[in-house]
Amino acid sequence: MERVVTVPGAPWCAAVAGRWLELLDARPVARLCLATGSTPLPVYARIAEAHGALGAASVLLLDEFGDLPADEPESCDRVLRRSLIDPAGVADYRSISVGTPDLDGECRAVDGWIDTGPGGCLDLAVLGLGVNGHVGMNEPGSPVDGRTARVELAASTIASAQRYFEGRARPTWGVTVGLGDLLAAREVWVLATGRDKATIVARCFESPATAEVPASLLQDHPNCTWWLDKPSAGLT
Ligand code: F6R
Repeated sequence: MERVVTVPGAPWCAAVAGRWLELLDARPVARLCLATGSTPLPVYARIAEAHGALGAASVLLLDEFGDLPADEPESCDRVLRRSLIDPAGVADYRSISVGTPDLDGECRAVDGWIDTGPGGCLDLAVLGLGVNGHVGMNEPGSPVDGRTARVELAASTIASAQRYFEGRARPTWGVTVGLGDLLAAREVWVLATGRDKATIVARCFESPATAEVPASLLQDHPNCTWWLDKPSAGLT
């Protein structure tokens, strides 16, 4: 069952961060899988301000771009470290080493990180939403039971990622936690803001659940919350 929270007045990020802090209060040792991209950053800033809130939590990076220069400041790892991990401090942080020669071994090790949690699943996955419905780098047509894997990015994702890299890099692939583990998480949040997400948000609710629109598969998740601002909810 999905729950939709539209935040019309108060800052959207305050509502999301407030609920997150309540959740951490109830379960301080939570195992979290976190997206980067631009949408969650204001929420991460609020969590980072709440010093110590993540002190007992474990965090897994949701995905990473391939073939970035080693010093690229907008890699998913660098973004998450800068916005949340370093200022907040966490008990355990697991990034994804896409540059390793044994990429399959790295993917299986990320799976192992997930499997060693209580119940062998993530407590909370905090996801953004691609304009084609992707979550993480699980593009349309991804296997619903997929685990961590190297994936090729859709053309719209490659184009959209250009706003992060400003010409320094043009990644065409990445490594992502798979839909199988995201759909198996105890709780899933999808964060979406801005008018350019309104069409895909509507599609995720109006179309049947299909791997062609990966986020629509969350229709069948027992504990999924969509955190929408008014423009992404199509209300303005
Ligand atoms: C990034 C990720 C992606 C983004 C999505 C939306 O870690 O998993 O799925 O969440 O592409 O990106 P923004 O938030 O920049 O619109």
